Amino acid sequence: MSEKKVSEAIEFRRSVRIFDDKKEIDHKVVKKCVEQAILAPNSSNLQLWEFYHITSNEEVKKIAKACFNQPAAKTAKQFVIPIVRKDLWKRRIASNVAFIQSEFEKSKNKDEKKKKGAISYYQKILPKIYGAGNLRGWANHIATFFKGLNKVVYRQVKKSDMRVVVHKSTALAAQNFLVSMAGNGYDTCTMEGFDSLRIKKILDLPAAAEISMVIGCGIRTKKGIYGARFRVPFDEVYFEK
Ligand SMILES: Cc1cc2nc3c(=O)[nH]c(=O)nc-3n(C[C@H](O)[C@H](O)[C@H](O)COP(=O)(O)O)c2cc1C
Repeated sequence: MSEKKVSEAIEFRRSVRIFDDKKEIDHKVVKKCVEQAILAPNSSNLQLWEFYHITSNEEVKKIAKACFNQPAAKTAKQFVIPIVRKDLWKRRIASNVAFIQSEFEKSKNKDEKKKKGAISYYQKILPKIYGAGNLRGWANHIATFFKGLNKVVYRQVKKSDMRVVVHKSTALAAQNFLVSMAGNGYDTCTMEGFDSLRIKKILDLPAAAEISMVIGCGIRTKKGIYGARFRVPFDEVYFEK
């Protein structure tokens, strides 16, 4: 089956609450959609995410139960669970630095200053914000306030701000996944109705990992779409200045 255009995929995507029991989905296609997910833009390219693809019947049942067996979970054929891994920041900084260095080695016109600037961003600036605990985060926040009285400054420096930053990036990747699935004629339902602790236990995740959402996957039934698509009027949310 040929893939839909992006605009068609966006139109096609609905939250499907009842998937067709008789229609299987190919786990290779779902995996390919996860490969598309990780091409999403993300803060400082740290890629502080992981994706768990649940395919075995036994695990699918466990995840459904941890999602209260809500219809979209109970009827799902597979799940994809985007995980937020802020705790991996040191490892991801090292990967970015290694990449910058290897690109520099390959380049013909070596720009030492540009390389140093990029590496310093990863090794000096990012650890200050990703490594900050509650106290240091608040200290950064107050310092930023005073610095920002006369100039433009980056203000999202509290520990809680950084949580938002990594969740944002993971959610963008999740949206890539949803659109990619729709492009392949597959359906999804994004869920936040789940017991996060139980899901973490099932997936054997460390305490610092956070579940972004659980995505049920399958093929829609007619009854699986609960109603017409509702959006508030466009002029309530769109402002041109
Ligand atoms: C973060 C998030 C959490 C959601 N949680 C649930 C959920 O637990 N159960 C559910 O049936 N739908 C859930 N939804 C689906 C929304 O209700 C749905 O996207 C919204 O009503 C718009 O409908 P549409 O997706 O068909 O356009 C969730 C959606 C998002 C983005």
